[in-house]
Amino acid sequence: MKGFVDKDTCIGCGLCPSLCPEIFEMDDDGKAVAKNVEIPEDIVDSAKEAEESCPVEAITVE
Ligand code: F3S
Repeated sequence: MKGFVDKDTCIGCGLCPSLCPEIFEMDDDGKAVAKNVEIPEDIVDSAKEAEESCPVEAITVE
């Protein structure tokens, strides 16, 4: 399972790195990026929470 951020949709609200810093971080241009790593089992819940909490639905976790 991996996280993906649609940078064209992200408005840079900063929620996802605060909910799941293991996977999401802010880029230099103020948009979120997902680390290109397999999401560890114990992190999946917070990654899913970030996906569900993003106000513009820019995140996919699959
Ligand atoms: Fe962007 Fe959504 Fe994260 S707006 S900063 S992808 S919570």
